Amino acid sequence: TRTLTILGIESSCDDTAAAVVRQVDSTLPEVLSSIVFGQSELHNAYGGVVPEIAARAHAEKLDICVRQALDASRQKLNELDAIAVTAGPGLIGGVMSGVMCAKGISAATGLPLIGVNHLAGHALTPRLTDGISYPYLILLVSGGHCQYLIARGPDDFTRLGGTIDDAPGEAFDKTARLLGLPQPGGPAVQAEAAFGDPKRFRFPRPMLDRPDCNLSFSGLKTALMRMRDQVAAPKGGLTRQDRADLCAGFQAAVVDVLAAKTRRAMSLYLLENPATPTLAVAGGVAANTAIRSKLETVCTEMGAFFTAPPLELCTDNAAMIAYAGLERFKAGSSDGMDLTARPRWPL
Ligand code: KG4
Ligand code: ZN
Repeated sequence: TRTLTILGIESSCDDTAAAVVRQVDSTLPEVLSSIVFGQSELHNAYGGVVPEIAARAHAEKLDICVRQALDASRQKLNELDAIAVTAGPGLIGGVMSGVMCAKGISAATGLPLIGVNHLAGHALTPRLTDGISYPYLILLVSGGHCQYLIARGPDDFTRLGGTIDDAPGEAFDKTARLLGLPQPGGPAVQAEAAFGDPKRFRFPRPMLDRPDCNLSFSGLKTALMRMRDQVAAPKGGLTRQDRADLCAGFQAAVVDVLAAKTRRAMSLYLLENPATPTLAVAGGVAANTAIRSKLETVCTEMGAFFTAPPLELCTDNAAMIAYAGLERFKAGSSDGMDLTARPRWPL
């Protein structure tokens, strides 16, 4: 029996997170603890994440976050096998804070250090939560990313396509801002959309005329602004119902585009992998219930298995980083003190 226990650290955007994950042989891994300190109240007044404020907050909170994750997991540092840390992509000040923290712990304890790609963390989460095997098709949808990947191993991904401009989470956040709703915009827009009429405003369905797996979301924001101003102008503002209808129309457009492109990506994926028809969805936007249930329907139609991690493991967290580190460690890779923080790092 081989038991691996890994500490994970995440600080690439606006969540300071630490977690401990354990796996016994090849059984389903266990999240022993997962602590997330959000920063949204620090950034809310600015209408977006301010990199300098984020970096400072990470630097201030990382040590107690790690302490809490260790305490909650009932593990001591000397009982761990390795330290995994997000080494990119992300806001560089935050990523550096996390990498420095991990290097400090590694230097003090002698534990191996493993740099993890944040996107790989999201992409491997369905293996942590559902134990699905490689290969599988993954749709990564977050505030900064939107792409279809074939996952074959912890360091082996093929990109089928992705957004050519905004990520869907960014579109949700901008929509919220344009309608005076709080950040993060995704949950706020979803809540409004629940009592809106998705047919009242006709939003475009960008890129559906193209046969590839690429997407575009920036046009939705422009359409939203135009429709909002048209409705608001004669009466000098929006009613609650106008706002809900705009949210519902916007969300329906995102759902339709993701459904159509997922059908395409799955068809391409199945050409090479007919024996493992699996779609996993991960990233913050995977928390959206309308998107989840539509993707599930698409999979049922295509005879594919659908899996989405529980909400708290869809948004940024360190359990996914610990788990991705665990997979890399098992595969024999680790990094040294020369591990660098990378603002850009495509999978
Ligand atoms: O993965 P994540 O925590 O951070 C990164 O971007 O890496 O994703 C955050 C994004 C935000 O844009 C947020 O608005 C969006 O996920 N989000 C949602 C929902 N919950 C979070 N978008 C749509 N519907 C939701 N329920
Ligand atoms: Zn993320």
